[in-house]
Amino acid sequence: MPPKLPPALPYLILLSFLFFYLYSTSLLPHSTTTSSTITTTTTTRTSSCNLFKGNWVLDRTKSTKPLYDESCPFHRNAWNCFRNQRENMGLINSWRWAPKDCELPKIDPERFLELMRNRNIGFVGDSLNENFLVSFLCILRVADGSAKKWKRKRAWRGAYFPKFNVTVAYHRAVLLSKYEWQPKQPTMNDGRKGIYRVDVDIPAEDWATITDYYDVLLFNTGHWWGYDKFPKETPLVFYRAGQPILPPLGLFEGLKVVLENMVSYIEREVPRKTLKFWRLQSPRHFYGGEWNQNGSCLFNEPLKEHERF
Ligand SMILES: *[C@@H]1O[C@H](CO)[C@@H](O)[C@H](O)[C@H]1NC(C)=O
Ligand SMILES: *[C@@H]1O[C@H](CO)[C@@H](O)[C@H](O)[C@H]1NC(C)=O
Repeated sequence: MPPKLPPALPYLILLSFLFFYLYSTSLLPHSTTTSSTITTTTTTRTSSCNLFKGNWVLDRTKSTKPLYDESCPFHRNAWNCFRNQRENMGLINSWRWAPKDCELPKIDPERFLELMRNRNIGFVGDSLNENFLVSFLCILRVADGSAKKWKRKRAWRGAYFPKFNVTVAYHRAVLLSKYEWQPKQPTMNDGRKGIYRVDVDIPAEDWATITDYYDVLLFNTGHWWGYDKFPKETPLVFYRAGQPILPPLGLFEGLKVVLENMVSYIEREVPRKTLKFWRLQSPRHFYGGEWNQNGSCLFNEPLKEHERF
């Protein structure tokens, strides 16, 4: 059975590309100056290359060996595949992303942090970004053993790297917009237990006030836009300018409106000098049930081309 893809996927990908396009155009001058300070053949080789076009290849050489192990203090225990003895970790860690037209060198944490000295990187979104952050912190820690946990400014988790004066943190905002639970009113008689009110034009407080702290921001949302998270009895109800949107929007229409609003908020309010990325969706990979129904990931290899949609 192929893994289930969320029905919102086409929307997400389309809008994500739009978003990415908008930012890549507005960011060109900045990114050019940044990369010009990196003077190696790597950049010249990658500059004409689309890093997103490529394949996963199985590479049993030690180049794919992880830079960290189960002792990394930034792991979230339930997600620590090493400590929880997930089977076939050696095989899983042997997969390497190989862009079609160039080499993607393995990250060099020392060099990366040196280039980022006195700068801060923020992740905003759902657990996909959190997972990425955790792995990233564990990798960067190789270059600075004095790294400390950092949870200020409403960050959900993060780390500070004293040797380089760099902070890397994650702000949890699963829908990006502000949303809050509103219990059922006695006057309502519609079979609902209550609603989640989503203000499509207001960013979640967890990140709205901290964007100027970061030099680089990576956004994502996706896996929460499903009826498994928000079933009919406890649905999302969308508001704009403080009023319910009428006629009410369905889940995926709501996603589209939230993305449009958050994109325009970010363009308007986040300083132009901030380098912004939009992270795309990944497929779900629960097998034998959902995440909360005893489902688990039994796969040891990436999806095949024909399994992507
Ligand atoms: C550390 O970086 C921040 C910017 O993120 C800067 O304001 C501060 O002066 C730096 N501290 C030192 C000791 O260089
Ligand atoms: C959950 O999975 C475990 C391991 O496969 C199995 O032993 C158990 O019976 C499952 N429980 C349910 C409720 O399906």
